[in-house]
Amino acid sequence: MLFDAPDYDAHEAVHFVADPASGLRAIVAVHSTHRGPAAGGCRWWSYADDAAALTDALRLSRGMSYKNAMAGLPMGGGKAVVFRDSATKSEALLEAFGAAVESLGGRYVTAEDVGMSDADMTVIARRTAHVSGLPAAGGAAGGNPGPSTAQGVFVGMRAAVRHALGRDDFAGVHVAIQGLGSVGGGVAERLKAAGAELTVADLDEARAAAVATALGARRVDVTEITRVAADVFSPNALGAVLDEATIAALDVRIVAGAANNQLATPADGARVQARGILYAPDYVINAGGIINVVAEYLGRGDAASVAASIAGIEPRLAAIFAEADATGQATDAVADAQARRLIGR
Ligand code: NAI
Repeated sequence: MLFDAPDYDAHEAVHFVADPASGLRAIVAVHSTHRGPAAGGCRWWSYADDAAALTDALRLSRGMSYKNAMAGLPMGGGKAVVFRDSATKSEALLEAFGAAVESLGGRYVTAEDVGMSDADMTVIARRTAHVSGLPAAGGAAGGNPGPSTAQGVFVGMRAAVRHALGRDDFAGVHVAIQGLGSVGGGVAERLKAAGAELTVADLDEARAAAVATALGARRVDVTEITRVAADVFSPNALGAVLDEATIAALDVRIVAGAANNQLATPADGARVQARGILYAPDYVINAGGIINVVAEYLGRGDAASVAASIAGIEPRLAAIFAEADATGQATDAVADAQARRLIGR
């Protein structure tokens, strides 16, 4: 039952949506509208069962409340999961999802997430105004949020390097990057330009080889990247990368990357701290994309203001690191407490 679900956190509403004609089945979770409309992407994914889909929607929507609040955005947190019941998603299904979003009257604002593209958002936008992440037009914010996320990770990592290594630059700083997609690839390019030394891995061998060649990076197998002796480990692939076993094997001073839900369990933040490793809370460092998406939605999408907002990730993380030092708490616990205060919980 929903109210007993382990991840239910007094979510304001959870909508179960079906449109038999198009085959749409979706869950739209609105965690909090305390700061504004609940903003968060929609994920197109194949779940083992309905409970797994509900868990994902509950967790991800709470995460969006935290992320949006910590990014200083006037938005609450929500998330939608669209069941991947067939190999391809039809325009009818996307339109039906758009109609479902529209029926919520702006309490939920959607955008792309795993399995959804900006082209899909264009189809959804036929039926609702409450959608963002559309292809960029005329120099305004919009389109793929990956580059904005990568920029946020870059400046956030700089705050971590300053705090843990006492340095203001990346010259010779060794970063091990897991995942070289839209975000990880951008992080790698920025670090290379700043003089960092890179070790990289990606499940996509061709992609890893191309990045290694282009940036002069060392390449390792995907099974090795979490154990590379380096200054920084930057996870930019999947979630739950930090568990008891990987944390024990980390050989770095800092973990700073874009992947969502990096900590496998709530206990893992303290485990990282106990190893003397500085962890940049994922939803704080990876907010660049949502900053861009929300600027687009609110029509305040000029590049300079988006860039200034993304730059704010650096001092925000510095403050979290300082508070963690001062109180002895793990950085994720400091961030969670700050976020909950901001959403009135
Ligand atoms: P992407 O799909 O473009 O790239 C992910 C890359 O990771 C792919 O190249 C894939 O082959 C690789 N990969 C997957 N599993 C791997 C493994 N076990 N070891 C090594 N490489 C592996 O995804 P994107 O957009 O770059 O996102 C990366 C992460 O950042 C995801 O966790 C995403 O949720 C998170 N994120 C992305 C944002 C964005 O703006 N794109 C915003 C906030 C978070």
